[in-house]
Amino acid sequence: MKDEPRVLQISPIRNGTVIDHITAGEALNVLKILGITGTTDECLSIATNVASEKSGRKDVVKISDRELCTEEVDRIALIAPQATINIIRDYLVCEKMGVEIPRVLLGVVRCPNRGCISNTNEPIKSRFEVTKRGLHCLYCDWYLKDDIPGHII
Ligand code: CTP
Repeated sequence: MKDEPRVLQISPIRNGTVIDHITAGEALNVLKILGITGTTDECLSIATNVASEKSGRKDVVKISDRELCTEEVDRIALIAPQATINIIRDYLVCEKMGVEIPRVLLGVVRCPNRGCISNTNEPIKSRFEVTKRGLHCLYCDWYLKDDIPGHII
């Protein structure tokens, strides 16, 4: 692989956000956690499993004309803790930041406990605190330990 020329997989963007160094294979989960689907308006470029000097392989997501806010950025840490967020303005990287795991997640993941009040028709959002043991449901005390992407709302 070393002898392959370094080519750009996706073009630079003029304005927006580049989420770089995403754990390989997690790009689509990053979009999911940001609430971006095939039917939302964003102009997206996605590269998966591209060569990375730092981590071997990585995914990259570029969102044109949208600057993510801190709350959105930090959700990404749940599935791609090594990700870096680059805010691009007029083709220049104006801000570069890491992602930080949030303390509390509101309305981001669904509680696996079917009997949890957050899974009923009550008008409430799921509420988890992030702990070393996993995501702790503040309504029913359930711990979500595996497959966090699979529980994203
Ligand atoms: N980028 C982009 N459009 C631009 C400018 C940058 O898509 N107009 C992308 C680059 O392709 C890269 C990311 O934004 O994926 C960060 O750019 P830069 O800081 O220039 O790259 P590196 O120095 O390689 O970043 P790092 O040190 O974070 O690996």
